[in-house]
Amino acid sequence: MSTITPVGERFHAELTELSTLTDSDRPGWTRRALSEFDIAGRDFARTLMKRAGLETRIDGAGNVIGVLRGRLGGREIMLGSHTDTVDGGGRFDGVTGVLGAIEVVRLLQESDVRLDHDLVVVVFFNEEPNDFGFFCVGSRAMTRLVDRTTLAAVDTTGRSLAQALPDSGIDPESFLDAAYDFSKVTAFLELHIEQGPELERIGKQIGVVETITGINHFKALFTGRQDHAGTTPMDVRADAGCAAAGTVLAVEAIAESGTNTRGTSGQIQFTPEAVNVVSATASLEGEFRGPDGSWLNEAQRRLTSAAAEQSEKRGVHVEMEWTTDDAPVPLHEPITSTIAEVADDLGLSRATMFSGAGHDAGIIAAKTQVGMIFVPSVDGRSHCPEEFTDLGDIVPGISVLLEAVLRVDGRFGS
Ligand code: GLV
Ligand code: MN
Ligand code: MN
Repeated sequence: MSTITPVGERFHAELTELSTLTDSDRPGWTRRALSEFDIAGRDFARTLMKRAGLETRIDGAGNVIGVLRGRLGGREIMLGSHTDTVDGGGRFDGVTGVLGAIEVVRLLQESDVRLDHDLVVVVFFNEEPNDFGFFCVGSRAMTRLVDRTTLAAVDTTGRSLAQALPDSGIDPESFLDAAYDFSKVTAFLELHIEQGPELERIGKQIGVVETITGINHFKALFTGRQDHAGTTPMDVRADAGCAAAGTVLAVEAIAESGTNTRGTSGQIQFTPEAVNVVSATASLEGEFRGPDGSWLNEAQRRLTSAAAEQSEKRGVHVEMEWTTDDAPVPLHEPITSTIAEVADDLGLSRATMFSGAGHDAGIIAAKTQVGMIFVPSVDGRSHCPEEFTDLGDIVPGISVLLEAVLRVDGRFGS
């Protein structure tokens, strides 16, 4: 086992600097994909990669890729995460895995340890949901899960993703052509904050992720009739807002019916937005999550019919679209057992976990063996400004990442 110790101060200084590259007009630490702040964040990560000795490039989909050449070449171990955030997000989601991976590179370099494999660090483009209804965009492009329909998706202003990408230096044709050759990747590992309360509750230091949640996102547009709020009797209205509200409650009721299942209506907009006008239209976006693919399919079916029922009884028309339909992803036993064994050998307490959050690791898992390492989140808070993980809890995660890389390098031939 290696005796290399991560330098927490370095991680902390970089995290602090990265947290200044955020939109000061928004709450928390906002660095949304497709914004100038996201470009600055990925540039900063690339600079750190270069300083750590990686050869860097940006692929056609905006993923920053750094390579530390191994002794034998040919095969690769990949690490990575993201630097974009949700609106009003925190400093640790994604960033922990990016800075943790770069710290692993530095530690290998400083201790003159040369892997057999090439070590590849990826800062994935646009992991969080964008305004076009997609998330994990960079990892989907690397795994050929994007096409012209993805590019044609529009935001609420009618702008397409194809029109938005060039502002982030991404050419739409190159975006479609950014598939990565995963046949040479032995394994992918992602360090991440838990984003939930479990590790803290049970008092464990390391989460070994067994399954990543499935996620089904929907967009619904309810079209009713705009009318006067005071003179239009209740029984002759076609109130799009009420049909949407009924659907929001159906999301909640359906999600309460499963085990470890979640349902969220995170975005709703009435048009016009006026206190004395019956809504003409309402747009609603939400999602279901859970560990069981058949439950998710059933939830999708039940919500589609609930939205139709809520609309029909009010004379409202609804169009519903399921924009992503990602099944739950079991991670790969050879890698998860290596992570568990490393945690034990380092004397760290650990637990097997289900991830209710989505991750690029879940997309990459279709192409290579994947493992994820979680570290605790204070009060389980995430996707909010209060998101916090103590440096003393992050350093053990980096140690596990480093040691897991060394064991994968030694065990799964080059
Ligand atoms: C990603 O952060 C997600 O789980 O939405
Ligand atoms: Mn997130
Ligand atoms: Mn994340």
